[in-house]
Amino acid sequence: MTQAASSHARVGPRYPHVVVLFGATGDLSRRKLLPGLFHLARAGFIPGCRIVGVSLDALDAEGFRKLARAAVDEFSTRKMSETEWNEFAASLDYVPLSAGPAALKSAVDEAQKSLAGESRRLHYLSIPPGAALAAVRTLRDANLVEGSRVIMEKPFGTDLASAVSLNAKLHEVFKEEQIFRIDHFLGKEPAQNILAFRFGNGLFEPIWNRNFIDHVQIDVPETLGLGKRGGFYESVGAFRDMVVTHLFQILAFTAMEPPTSLEPTPISEEKNKVFRSMLPLLSSDVVRGQYVGYRGEEGVNPESDTETFIALKCHIDNWRWAGVPFFLRTGKRLAEGQRIISIAFREPPKSMFPAGSGIGSQGPDHLTFDLADAAKMSLSFYGKRPGPGMRLDKLSMQFAMHDTGLAGDVLEAYERLILDAMRGDRTLFTTAEGIERLWEVSTPLLEAPPPVRPYTPGSWGPNAIHRLVTPYAWRLPFERAWRDPNRTGN
Ligand code: BG6
Repeated sequence: MTQAASSHARVGPRYPHVVVLFGATGDLSRRKLLPGLFHLARAGFIPGCRIVGVSLDALDAEGFRKLARAAVDEFSTRKMSETEWNEFAASLDYVPLSAGPAALKSAVDEAQKSLAGESRRLHYLSIPPGAALAAVRTLRDANLVEGSRVIMEKPFGTDLASAVSLNAKLHEVFKEEQIFRIDHFLGKEPAQNILAFRFGNGLFEPIWNRNFIDHVQIDVPETLGLGKRGGFYESVGAFRDMVVTHLFQILAFTAMEPPTSLEPTPISEEKNKVFRSMLPLLSSDVVRGQYVGYRGEEGVNPESDTETFIALKCHIDNWRWAGVPFFLRTGKRLAEGQRIISIAFREPPKSMFPAGSGIGSQGPDHLTFDLADAAKMSLSFYGKRPGPGMRLDKLSMQFAMHDTGLAGDVLEAYERLILDAMRGDRTLFTTAEGIERLWEVSTPLLEAPPPVRPYTPGSWGPNAIHRLVTPYAWRLPFERAWRDPNRTGN
């Protein structure tokens, strides 16, 4: 084992694992989970790990290895050697769902037997919400529940009633402490950096409230379309796919009170307090959109009412945030792919600068977090333009993770969370209570959604988004691009 691999093994799980991957041939598995498991194995984080793929596809182990190889070739960003691949490939097995629970049990038993000493099982349900309970029952019938953990993918339910019922049915089979509800945005390095930034520094926390902050935007436009996910997306839509999951979780990290410690319970407690303080979402504060051409996509109803875009205003009605609007936006086939949190500070009470000085002309001061894997942050402010007179320009201080030389150490979100689940660390996972509360605040919107408005692919969404954000403006597109961290002299 290399030195790096042995130090990684120290932060890895205590016992080797057998990962039972449901939905093993699906989109998420190919894009993220198989490349992620490969990286974790190769880097030495999960020595001995074995993977049993399960899906509806009639494959054998060899067929699954081929699929996994193609997935790693296409989606892994890191280089690999043939020896590394062969070692990983040997840890892969496959059982088609049609083979039934007994066949699954025997494949998992065999994988566990091949591991010396004690081992653990991690079931990853990378399947649509409607299929989750059937997979849970298969695990129960295969007697693979005891001593296992299970990762559940979002969306967790489709409304309050279905989430409550899903939790109740899950609890008939798995205990709460065995269940890991994943939200991969919380596994993103820059999302955790929000906590480090807020609670590790004395500089910003004192002004992190309604007295100094004017409004907040969490904006995650995507240029991506649906790929092969038309059928899934059609039954879910942008709100359930992104907002009630990822964007609200990021909102909680941005808005929560300092937890008493960085442990799962105190963090969940503070996040859930944010969710409890959220006012119910009103249809009048929401713009739903659908890109032109969506209804012709494969798997989509030609009269579909599913939104591929959503923008909304929400309020956290507590002492810290009363009166501060939070604007959230996300959608498919938009002008740019970005993931930002933008904090707009209040403007000074009075200005002594002469008319035409430029003060305030480029919006308020902003603190911006870019949630891309190679994270960036920026603080924009007004400063004097060099030369005679008093002209002000918007300037910025920027930080890019690139600059630290440590960008290569970043674990991809799923990698981080799989590792955490194997270690039994729930800090970055969501709770049943939190999720149910989010569905509860969403009820008025789900019961009376505003109409979907068409938007042109490549735009920023329907025009109504500007009215929603008035008297402010959407921060994106940026007026000034991020500085290129690889360029010298800027
Ligand atoms: C997934 C959604 O959870 O998140 C996708 O289902 C979306 O629709 C994706 O594209 C975005 O994640 P990331 O990490 O690529 O920003």
